[in-house]
Amino acid sequence: MSVALMWVVSPTSEVSNGTGFLDSVRVLDSFNSVARCRNLIGSGRPKRGRKNRLNYRSMNEGGYFSSKNRGSFSVISSIVASPTGEIALTSEQKVYDVVLKQAALVKRQLKSRENMEVKPDIALPGTLPLLSEAYDRCGEVCAEYAKTFYLGTLLMTPERRRAIWAIYVWCRRTDELVDGPNASHITPAALDRWETRLEDIFRGRPFDMLDAALSDTVTKFPVDIQPFRDMIEGMRMDLWKSRYKNFDELYLYCYYVAGTVGLMSVPIMGIAPESKATTESVYNASLALGLANQLTNILRDVGEDARRGRIYLPQDELAQAGLSDDDIFAGKVTDKWRNFMKKQIKRARKFFDDAEKGVTELSSASRWPVWASLLLYRQILDEIEANDYNNFTRRAYVSKPKKILALPMAYVKSLVPPSLVKA
Ligand SMILES: *[C@@H]1O[C@H](CO)[C@@H](O)[C@H](O)[C@H]1NC(C)=O
Ligand SMILES: *[C@@H]1O[C@H](CO)[C@@H](O)[C@H](O)[C@H]1NC(C)=O
Ligand SMILES: *[C@@H]1O[C@H](CO)[C@@H](O)[C@H](O)[C@H]1NC(C)=O
Repeated sequence: MSVALMWVVSPTSEVSNGTGFLDSVRVLDSFNSVARCRNLIGSGRPKRGRKNRLNYRSMNEGGYFSSKNRGSFSVISSIVASPTGEIALTSEQKVYDVVLKQAALVKRQLKSRENMEVKPDIALPGTLPLLSEAYDRCGEVCAEYAKTFYLGTLLMTPERRRAIWAIYVWCRRTDELVDGPNASHITPAALDRWETRLEDIFRGRPFDMLDAALSDTVTKFPVDIQPFRDMIEGMRMDLWKSRYKNFDELYLYCYYVAGTVGLMSVPIMGIAPESKATTESVYNASLALGLANQLTNILRDVGEDARRGRIYLPQDELAQAGLSDDDIFAGKVTDKWRNFMKKQIKRARKFFDDAEKGVTELSSASRWPVWASLLLYRQILDEIEANDYNNFTRRAYVSKPKKILALPMAYVKSLVPPSLVKA
């Protein structure tokens, strides 16, 4: 336990060598990881027809807390049968199922709150000080790695603030698995063990102190496990995938790495009590904002991603525009490229529009911070245009952890309900 804490809380990354939390992940019991690895990773590559692995799990009603239950699922949303008779859902439908589930959880809790007071800390005598110490550690990590974000959390109520810290720390640790000092050694099996550990957190069996904070958070707030699982899935995807066949595949990736954070945090941030917006539409908007941000990132960083051999742009759309991977690697701004980029930018703007619709439904006081972050990122698209679509050569390399975490966290911060923002 202390091993993991040392790594995460250590202020500099040098200290992270030697006794990393990857080791503590490794010691976890991984009874079913081999089977799952074959099942999850294996199906990704050869069986190209079956698009996305998350789908069935996202519909696994009631099976969230048991990895053994995964085989069974019930289809909630409309389905489309592919020519081969396989069930094929679009990424949007799959992700929407997660949104619905999270929104339902929040509604259920609101109902039960009407006749119930806020749950007190239920803990065995003597464990409360430990719990508050665990949360303090999360706060320290957050302050260390995301100063501005940390300051933003100070505007929230103490319960919400601590919960957001716990979630931040988990996201950070997850991201470090594939982008930390040991990213090159990370195996699918290690990610499976990390997921087993996540299930334990939701079952109230945390592995270390930082996990304990999240464990407590998920009993107090209506947080669903699925977005957490999906973020791990995004990390799995990054291990083997460097091309995206079409926008449907890209949509799912953007949800995994950016949309998930919105779904994890809104239940904690809370929706303004005076808001007339439906729970669902607020989640839709936070999801749209995450997707828009990630799409913008991809367009902005196309040059540096290409230098790492990665092309996130949809392959079919590139081909339609008469562009190949080699054109991207060559990085020449041609008319074909400009036309292609115009369409991509247009689509990203549509997601920003969707996010805006949700924002305008919020009370005026809660609107401004969301607007601020939205406009900030939206502006990047204008800059790309002003740059004559040359996003191949200029930008300096920015490490991926920053890219993945900084953005969603910025908009999460902006979702603080109006009553908590001291205007
Ligand atoms: C990284 O890997 C090395 C060699 O496998 C190991 O000794 C070290 O503890 C690991 N560090 C982290 C942060 O897990
Ligand atoms: C949320 O988005 C989905 C599509 O992703 C859409 O079908 C649904 O109508 C939206 N719901 C609301 C309340 O905006
Ligand atoms: C890409 O666009 C962003 C936003 O306009 C700009 O800051 C950045 O320098 C551009 N990158 C390249 C490589 O031109």
